[in-house]
Amino acid sequence: MNNVWVLVIAAGAIYGCFCILMGVAPGMILSHTPPVAGLKPLTAAEARGRDVYVAEGCSYCHTQNVRPLVQDKVFGRPSVGGDYAYDTPQLLGTERTGPDLSNIGARQPSDVWQYIHLYDPRALVHESIMPRYTWLFQVRPSASAGEITVPLPPGYAPANGVVIATQQAQDLVAYLKSLKQLPLGTVK
Ligand code: HEC
Repeated sequence: MNNVWVLVIAAGAIYGCFCILMGVAPGMILSHTPPVAGLKPLTAAEARGRDVYVAEGCSYCHTQNVRPLVQDKVFGRPSVGGDYAYDTPQLLGTERTGPDLSNIGARQPSDVWQYIHLYDPRALVHESIMPRYTWLFQVRPSASAGEITVPLPPGYAPANGVVIATQQAQDLVAYLKSLKQLPLGTVK
């Protein structure tokens, strides 16, 4: 074999086939995966909260992908394609410095807990290495009607004033609470 063009075209064709088979086809098949029964698209507030989650880089430390492994049982049932039907692009994450959040809405449904934890994780989990997200809150002398104040434990609250959850914090918590795994129905 000394025809260089045959070699180039054959190698290119084999490479192209593998690209389609391993890169494009799985995406096309998965994009038609039906949602898990009962799964709803995010509400407007939850979708804004998802944007905050992306902007703040929560995925650098948190996965949303429960593997079918014994050590992942604490996070929920193993994830399936249908869990992500309305989630584009999916926020699977690669690093698990903190726990998987696929089912955090069921595991920790308290708004107050989430607000305190975002303001200062150490206020609830003493040994936590999660960063504070204080810029999602405002410290003001007092709260106006309808505003959400965060009841921080002594030692974590600012010396003066009250801590108020901004719209971004409220949206982010709405998003976290929406992360609930639905039971998988029996296959008919
Ligand atoms: C530097 C890594 C890191 C980043 C970035 C990070 N976290 Fe965490 N997170 C952790 C660790 C470690 C824990 C476990 C200790 C704790 O509960 O504070 C945790 C715990 C949590 C928990 C409680 C999980 C459970 O199962 O109890 C929630 C909810 C959470 N993080 C949300 C977020 C959100 C939302 C963001 C982005 C705004 C974020 N985290 C960013 C490391 C991180």
